[in-house]
Amino acid sequence: MGLKKLFINTIGCQMNVYDSGQIQSRLAPLGYEPTDNLAIADVIILNTCAIRAKAEQKAFSFLGRLLPLKETKPELIIAMGGCVAQQEGQKVLSRMPHVDLVFGTHAIRRLPQLIQRIAATRCRIVDIEMAATISADDFTPSHPGLSSDVSAFVTIMRGCDNYCTYCVVPYVRGREASRTPDEIVSEIEHLVDHGVREVTLLGQNVNSYGQKEGFCNFAQLLDRVNRIKDLVRIRFTTSHPKDLSEELMLAFNRLEKLCPHIHLPVQSGADAVLKRMNRRYNRQQYLDKIGLLRTIHPDIAITSDIIVGFPGETEEEFEDTMSLIDQVGFDGLFAFIYSDRPNAPAVRFENKIDEAIKKERLQKVLICQEAFTRKKNRALTGSIQEILVDGLSKHLNYISEDRPTHDGKDGMQWSGRTGTNKIVHFMQEAPADAWNQMLTGRTMEIMIEKAMSHSLWGRPLS
Ligand code: SAH
Ligand code: SF4
Ligand code: F3S
Repeated sequence: MGLKKLFINTIGCQMNVYDSGQIQSRLAPLGYEPTDNLAIADVIILNTCAIRAKAEQKAFSFLGRLLPLKETKPELIIAMGGCVAQQEGQKVLSRMPHVDLVFGTHAIRRLPQLIQRIAATRCRIVDIEMAATISADDFTPSHPGLSSDVSAFVTIMRGCDNYCTYCVVPYVRGREASRTPDEIVSEIEHLVDHGVREVTLLGQNVNSYGQKEGFCNFAQLLDRVNRIKDLVRIRFTTSHPKDLSEELMLAFNRLEKLCPHIHLPVQSGADAVLKRMNRRYNRQQYLDKIGLLRTIHPDIAITSDIIVGFPGETEEEFEDTMSLIDQVGFDGLFAFIYSDRPNAPAVRFENKIDEAIKKERLQKVLICQEAFTRKKNRALTGSIQEILVDGLSKHLNYISEDRPTHDGKDGMQWSGRTGTNKIVHFMQEAPADAWNQMLTGRTMEIMIEKAMSHSLWGRPLS
């Protein structure tokens, strides 16, 4: 019997990327091998995101396009997983007659049985059962040979209990629950044994890691991860500003593997909006935390998320957000237009903002941030940065005027990241094959020669 082919399309955040890896690892023992060719797939899984209406539309339009394929190949199994699946459940089956399986965010561990049942009986299944706690078999070690990445995500907790009024996550990911420190450490050790050098610990609010269960706190978990041999770098996301402790800030100085970067979503600079969002901190408290972070670790990179056009956001309130962006000077910013989510309370809030105004506000935020990003990047030219090499550059067809020539010498273009999470490209004159083994996953000293808008260009020193 030949191997069967599994095609996964992942939409959404890092947690979905991690989950898609889990899906691959769960199905590998059944003989499913990943493919990126839809036409030859035996099982197609769409891992979905419900955070904004656009992401949800993207999911249904992808599924819609699969109809002709299913008509020519009735034995094909089409499954929808992730946050939209959790939210819509049974409704997906009526709306999409060619979909065989809808599985929610807590159903991944049951996926092998679900797929086998469908293959054997051609039934259609919805599994969106959720659990309040995590059990050890909710997670599986990554299947050997599936990934050769230098950097990997590790989910340390799932769900969210914060109930920001715009957000769908608590409804589609369930109650907040943490994995045990032992399980997390052994998963990372396993990854490191297979070549991973950098991990990003994932949770919707990592600051409250282990609190419900009475495990150690997040800073203590970082201590343990920091001791894992041959692991080079640790990152984490996301921190909720209300719970960011001084102990965690101090960890940036204490732990040599912890990268000097924090993603601290602020959402808005106006107190009244923060209140309506149920964020439970105000502008000043946020700014105080930024101040303390920079006192403790002056070089730390800070990135954030902003929502523009939240219901009732006045021109003054929007200006408060603009002035906060100006005051902080973020290294990077993800800005989003507020999107009504049927499950989230803000859908019922009054004074919805006009689409045109929302777009205008988004544009203003992006233009303002662009200047900061460029300034921060430019400040690095002439400096020496330690990077972890990811591999050959994904975008080899770089805009040519952006790419400084290197004395006409030819070579391969590589990329890596600084501890502050900035992308650095560089040339190495050597055959790719020989160097691939040697460079990928290594740390290198790079002299930064040029700052581009979203990355840096440099020259290896060794
Ligand atoms: N747990 C993380 C973020 C999860 S969602 C946190 O607490 O920060 C990622 C980002 O999507 C959020 O920070 C927010 O900026 C944005 N977002 C969430 N719901 C949204 C909505 N309904 N409309 C627009 N943006 C939204
Ligand atoms: Fe959503 Fe708020 Fe939870 Fe983040 S903290 S996932 S924004 S409810
Ligand atoms: Fe989207 Fe679900 Fe992540 S809604 S942002 S994929 S937790």
